[in-house]
Amino acid sequence: MGVHDPVIDEQTPASDFTIEQRWDRYTTEEHAVWDTLYARQISILKNRAVDEFHHGLGLLDLGSGGIPDLSDINPKLKALTGWEVVMVPHLVPDDVFFDHLANRRFPSGRFIRKRSQLDYLEEPDIFHDIFGHVPMLTLPVFADYMQAYGKGGQRAQTMGRLKELARLYWYTVEFGLIQQAEGLRIYGAGIVSSAGETPFCLESDSPNRIRFDLERVMRTDYKIDDFQQVYFVIDSFDQLLDVTQQDFTALYERLGTDMTRFGLTDIIDADEVYHHGDQAYAQAAAAR
Ligand code: PHE
Ligand code: FE
Repeated sequence: MGVHDPVIDEQTPASDFTIEQRWDRYTTEEHAVWDTLYARQISILKNRAVDEFHHGLGLLDLGSGGIPDLSDINPKLKALTGWEVVMVPHLVPDDVFFDHLANRRFPSGRFIRKRSQLDYLEEPDIFHDIFGHVPMLTLPVFADYMQAYGKGGQRAQTMGRLKELARLYWYTVEFGLIQQAEGLRIYGAGIVSSAGETPFCLESDSPNRIRFDLERVMRTDYKIDDFQQVYFVIDSFDQLLDVTQQDFTALYERLGTDMTRFGLTDIIDADEVYHHGDQAYAQAAAAR
């Protein structure tokens, strides 16, 4: 595990894997790391993240200084969309994760990265989980999508299609872009919590940017250890909720009988391409 957190170690998780935040136990340095990350992201997310994200930050007062106390943000979030944030020690098993989402509980890590790891860490920390994910949970349509995803996860598990459903999460909740009247904007939590990927995903010539298509996304690999080579762009949050409201049974059966899968740089005839990337970044990274 990446970061040692004694306040995690001293607790025995409940059966749903939750622990207490014990906010008083964060150190001055841990709060300062949050403030550094917060200030850095805010300065680059203007006109890059969707307005809904900035609005959510304000509604929850996430920039008031230091790591947020769940007892401050949960009453606000609950009143807005019925969601709350719960703390978990590390990544939780899939079924536990889905059960939390299906019940409008977002599981967040307690620990925060060290100052030496500001740019990269292997595990989601509280900055990624709260700064990245929670503002979007103030938006009713997105709040509904996340709950539907949790319920869908439970179904996908019984149908053996978890891998495909995980790709939907990856390319929307974590790395999603949206085409708005003002231009292309970020809503994915994995991007908004990353100083490098925030400008990269919108402005670099390297990655592909392709209009979102549910089945295409479910057939596409992803990589977890570097900037994405392809982003999928939704038209609106209503569209995202609409296309995922349909029963996936027929889609899952198709994914099981037609094993066509796409690589990270593939462009197919059916794609509506916003930007055909030159993959220069990925090639340079591979040569290193
Ligand atoms: N509609 C999906 C199903 O039938 C559930 C789902 C909703 C999955 C939203 C992802 C996102 O399984
Ligand atoms: Fe995440």
